[in-house]
Amino acid sequence: MTHDQLLQAFAALYGKQAESVFFAPGRVNLIGEHTDYNGGPVFPCALTFGTYLLLARNNADVLRFRSLNMPQAWETDITAERSPLPDRSWVNYPLGTIAQMEKAGLTIHCGFDMLFYGDVPQGAGLSSSASIEVVTAFAFNNLYGSPFGLVQIARFAQEAEHVFAGVNCGIMDQFASACGKREHAICLDCNSLEYELVPLNMNGVKIVLSNTCSPHKLESSLYNKRVAECGEALRMLQKEMKVKCLADVSSDELKKYAAIIKDETVYRRALHVVSETERTKKAVKALKSGDLALFGQLMNESHISLRDNYEVTGFELDTMAEAAWNTDGVIGSRMTGGGFGGCTVSLVREDAVERFISQVGAEYRQKAGIKPEFYVADAGDGARRLI
Ligand code: GLA
Repeated sequence: MTHDQLLQAFAALYGKQAESVFFAPGRVNLIGEHTDYNGGPVFPCALTFGTYLLLARNNADVLRFRSLNMPQAWETDITAERSPLPDRSWVNYPLGTIAQMEKAGLTIHCGFDMLFYGDVPQGAGLSSSASIEVVTAFAFNNLYGSPFGLVQIARFAQEAEHVFAGVNCGIMDQFASACGKREHAICLDCNSLEYELVPLNMNGVKIVLSNTCSPHKLESSLYNKRVAECGEALRMLQKEMKVKCLADVSSDELKKYAAIIKDETVYRRALHVVSETERTKKAVKALKSGDLALFGQLMNESHISLRDNYEVTGFELDTMAEAAWNTDGVIGSRMTGGGFGGCTVSLVREDAVERFISQVGAEYRQKAGIKPEFYVADAGDGARRLI
């Protein structure tokens, strides 16, 4: 959809012109999976697709929520108490974000008519929900004179996910959506929230996203279970060592104290987090020094650890990654995001992209019986005002 088409859609729905338009991107994580809520490093980049929010004030003192992607329309009084809607309504993302901003002192003085439109494929692990939250926080922050910084915007969005969507996620997705930069990846320390923008100097190499298009129900409860398992591993280790978060434990320390973690599953979860933290640090260094081959190898190892120790991949993601590993011109490939379905991310030599799409597509379709989708991704800018 072009900007003009979006403006026309707003006018057709609300019978007036939009006064402002905002955008926040989805993200793809290159490496550092399930490390964020353990205080570890992540290495995502913002995408060029995301969610648009068009707004105009109204005189009715109501907040009106509409989306071109979802049929449900909803409205509420500006002074009403905020609580989550049932049945995983999409409205919970923007409403929950507004609620967090109000808790932090923002007062919405007048009604707003809102229209959301997203071009991030939903359920693909590319953070369509984070982009809705971040665009909402960015828009209201901007309309009220920008009292909050970008990191705080990411925090509001993350809190909305916790309280209104029931997912105890880390901060990676919302942070990448708020702070991303064109042609850069973000090396974020999720403990200190210090970050560095690293140029994606990938001469002749493309980032290809392969969407398994597989439905992934139960994903939020399985995600929360992983968060709880990591918490348990940390509590046990804290009996023997002084450590604030699981990502601060080294491989050697984990080995040394292995016997304390009696539950074998919980141990493997910790093993993933600890090894992924080390891989991510190495990968960032490799990218900075132009060693893409090492970066790719670490991506493959990350997938294997997520498959065997963290158990968040599943048949479709494994099939997609394996098909990529068997294809010439692929530097590395792994699942990206929370898992249990969604996308893999692959680094592919530019001259091999077409072959990658046909070969991996055919193999995946044959084995999984599902037609996949492919997107060649560029790293884009974070949240911004367009009009
Ligand atoms: C989801 C969560 C993130 C992060 C990833 C896994 O995308 O929203 O906070 O935990 O899964 O790395």
